[in-house]
Order: sequence, then C-alpha cells, then structure tokens
Amino acid sequence: MNWLDSDHRYGAVSRAIHWSMATLLILMLGTEWLAELVGMSEREAMALHKSVGLLLLGLLVFRLAWRRVNRGRLEAPEHWKVASRLGHWALYGMMVLIPATGLLAAMGSGHGVEFFGLPLISPGAEIEWLEDATEETHEVTANLLWLLIAGHVVAVLAHQLWLHDRTLKRMA
Ligand code: HEM
Ligand code: HEM
Repeated sequence: MNWLDSDHRYGAVSRAIHWSMATLLILMLGTEWLAELVGMSEREAMALHKSVGLLLLGLLVFRLAWRRVNRGRLEAPEHWKVASRLGHWALYGMMVLIPATGLLAAMGSGHGVEFFGLPLISPGAEIEWLEDATEETHEVTANLLWLLIAGHVVAVLAHQLWLHDRTLKRMA
C-alpha cells in the first residue's frame, strides 16, 4: 500500500483523512437535524458537536502537516490549476474558521467545553459580546461551507464527465 502521495494518486493517509473529514464535516453541518432524527437531547448533541468539532480541528492540523510532507509528490491536474488551488484553500480556510468561531462562541456562552468528557474549558460567566460576535460568524461560515462543498463536488463531476481526467481517481 502507498502511504505517501505519488505522482498520479493521493496516498492512503491523504485519502483516509479526506474522506473521514468530509463525512464528519457533513454530519456536523447537520447536527440539529441528526439529533432530532436519533432523539438526542440538545445538551447531549451540543457536547458531541463540540467534541467532534475539536477532533476535526486536530485532524486538519495533521492534514496540513501531511500535505507538507508530501509536497511536490503529486502534480496538480492539468486544467483549472488556479481555480482548484483557490477552491481548496477556501475549504481549508473554512475548516479553521468554523471550529475556531465555534470554540469562541462556546466560551462566550459560559457553558464550558469538554473533549469527549475531558474538561477543557470550565463553565463560567456568559460573555455576551463574545457570544454575539462569534455565534453569528459560526453560522454564516457553516452555510458558506455548504456552498463550497457544492462547488467542490460540481468541479469533481466536471473533471470526471467533461474533461474525462483522473481527478476523481486520484482521491478515490
Ligand atoms: C466536506 C466535504 C469536503 C471537503 C471539506 C473537501 C476538501 C478537499 C480539499 C481541501 C482537497 C484538496 C486536497 C489537497 O490539499 O491536495 C480536496 C480534494 C479532493 N476532493 Fe474533496 N472535500 C470534500 C468532499 C468531497 C466529495 C464529496 C468529493 C467527491 C465527489 C470530493 C472529491 C475530491 C477529489 C477528487 C479531490 C482531489 C482533487 C485534486 O486532485 O486536485 N471531495 N477535497
Ligand atoms: C468543524 C466543524 C464545525 C461545524 C461544521 C459546525 C457547524 C455548526 C452548525 C451548522 C451549527 C448550527 C447553527 C444554527 O443553526 O444554530 C453550529 C452551532 C454551534 N456550534 Fe458548531 N460547528 C463546528 C465546530 C464547532 C466547535 C469546535 C465548537 C465548540 C467547541 C462549536 C460550537 C457550537 C455552538 C456553541 C453552537 C450553538 C450556537 C447557537 O446556539 O446557535 N462548533 N455549529
């Protein structure tokens, strides 16, 4: 098995992180809906939401370090190089901004933050200005992520169905 990226395909580690992060991010975007579906209380759902969100932030740090380790191993697809680079960095940007604003909103709410039961930030007083400033940004950036994901999938489909290149196979 190829752990590292090669000139024609992302390696096993890059692929595993891409698909696990994509799945978790989509589940996170649907937290409210999923919690209702499985009959979870809002409190439980939020605790899980914060833990998985922090896990995603950790996975992202690893993803960016792994990207650096693999730098130059994989050629960019021939078409739309600039657009794809911009699109990917916009996705990375959202993957930093969303959990960061979520963390600040949670601090502002005074409810505290645990990572799968491990206390990270103790509950305290509500900091209204912090909560107001960050909660809205958290929501707006989460909505923006939906748009970017849709654009990303349309680009992949265009590579596959229109350009008939290896873009999808590189990550599949
Ligand atoms: C939450 C959803 C997703 C996020 C945040 C995401 C993010 C990313 C990022 C950041 C890259 C660039 C990787 C690099 O640094 O080289 C990438 C590549 C890729 N993604 Fe996604 N992705 C998501 C969902 C999907 C889905 C649903 C598909 C399938 C239709 C897909 C197919 C691909 C492919 C084929 C590539 C490789 C593109 C290339 O070779 O340049 N992704 N994705
Ligand atoms: C990377 C992943 C994340 C995604 C995609 C995400 C997405 C979302 C979404 C879609 C909502 C619902 C917004 C609404 O309609 O009210 C939400 C709410 C919330 N998130 Fe996240 N989130 C992420 C990470 C985090 C993290 C790491 C934390 C804190 C440690 C957090 C804390 C919160 C809080 C406190 C709310 C409730 C805000 C309110 O009361 O409206 N999120 N998040």
